[in-house]
Amino acid sequence: MKKAVRYFSKLGNTKTIAEAIAAGAGVRAVSIAEEPALTEFVDILYLGGAPYANIMAPELKAYAERLDQSRVGTVRLFTTSNWSRRTVLALKKLLREKGIQVEEAYFYAHMLHIHGRVEAARDFGRKG
Ligand SMILES: Cc1cc2nc3c(=O)[nH]c(=O)nc-3n(C[C@H](O)[C@H](O)[C@H](O)COP(=O)(O)O)c2cc1C
Repeated sequence: MKKAVRYFSKLGNTKTIAEAIAAGAGVRAVSIAEEPALTEFVDILYLGGAPYANIMAPELKAYAERLDQSRVGTVRLFTTSNWSRRTVLALKKLLREKGIQVEEAYFYAHMLHIHGRVEAARDFGRKG
């Protein structure tokens, strides 16, 4: 089963979680700033970001909007924030409207407890 981890992170919190998920999944976490689109099919795409002033970064929204449904089996979402779950909820809606399958469960880490969530993020990445 092929997995990929893609994320957008301004301050580094989501990057830390993405790297832990990637370690669990046995792949490299890649920023969407580095690679703007998937280059091959993946069974499970871990996709994450954070809210800034209540909305996800426009870069992440644009990535989701141009995500090619023929390149993805299922999406697993993750997010970090101060309180808001909006990023994952908005991504879930956007991707499902495009016909992309998104798992209901997502991974959340509070911005002040990132390091305390690293082990759980690794487990999330290991999930079959
Ligand atoms: C300018 C700014 C605006 C933010 N707005 C929100 C917000 O509306 N809701 C929230 O829960 N967290 C908010 N946060 C907290 C970030 O979502 C949180 O720090 C997150 O972990 C940042 O992810 P990153 O380190 O991957 O960039 C904001 C942070 C910044 C810097």
